[in-house]
Amino acid sequence: MDLQGRHLVEPLDLSVDEIEWLIDAAGRIVAKPEDYAEACKGKLLATLFYEPSTRTRFSFEAAMLRLGGQVIGFSEPSSSSVSKGESIADTIRTVACYADIAVMRHPKEGSALVASRCADIPVINGGDGGHHHPTQTLTDLMTIKLEKGGFNNITVGMCGDLKFGRTVHSLIRALTRYSGVRFVLISPDELRVPEYVREEVERSGAEFEETRDLREALPELDVLYMTRVQRERFFNEEDYIRLKDSYILDAEKLRSAKQSLMVLHPLPRVNEISADVDADPRAFYFRQAKNGMYIRMALIMALLGSKGV
Ligand code: NCD
Repeated sequence: MDLQGRHLVEPLDLSVDEIEWLIDAAGRIVAKPEDYAEACKGKLLATLFYEPSTRTRFSFEAAMLRLGGQVIGFSEPSSSSVSKGESIADTIRTVACYADIAVMRHPKEGSALVASRCADIPVINGGDGGHHHPTQTLTDLMTIKLEKGGFNNITVGMCGDLKFGRTVHSLIRALTRYSGVRFVLISPDELRVPEYVREEVERSGAEFEETRDLREALPELDVLYMTRVQRERFFNEEDYIRLKDSYILDAEKLRSAKQSLMVLHPLPRVNEISADVDADPRAFYFRQAKNGMYIRMALIMALLGSKGV
């Protein structure tokens, strides 16, 4: 599979076959990590984080370090020339002079696309505003595939902030390419998926329903993707406070769910999954976070054209 030199801005930048291949490659790395310890020796990853992050930044950095490469970057734009008013275009052009590959997270939708057009190194979107987050989607797909064997004929519930949640938009877009995926979109009215996402689902022909009721939807789900209400994208705090605890998954609610349900969450969680769910074998969110590092190892190797993955 040749992904060398490509950018990853949104999930459809990768074909279904390329995604399958990356998941398999991540599996090979999980099985024998020592074989990959020098795969990116001498290569440099730049992490440009204009927004807070734990998993995405650390998993990218850990991934590169475990491949024998090195990392530069910022996690606070105030510590770089961004604070002096430098544009994304100029920042990425400069970073491309020093690094071999870059991952960028930015509060503005479209920022990763702009960066990818200005850079002659692969640019990975680590989240652009409320738009997309393709490497979280790779993580989600890997976690589902390892457990369910594939993506056909599953009922996937997405619950919480479907309006601003970029992980939701990317995962829906990726899953519409498989046959028989049924979506149950669970949110308060104000936080329903944006029109363009609903249209994508409609165009794909996938079956979907929108509901406000998590309890009622739960028994039919094979996957439940919980999300945090995205406080930083709200225009006013009062709306956030009113909506933030719309859904709280707890052990009592889970009683009505299938034994084979997978509960996923991109994390961080606030209140939407209570701690009493963590010990349930259906809670997959920390395994999901771990998979994130392995799939990013596979992705970095592929985009850099490293041998042996
Ligand atoms: C998500 C994000 O940043 O979009 N986190 C992550 O990358 N795992 C989800 C969130 O912040 O709610």
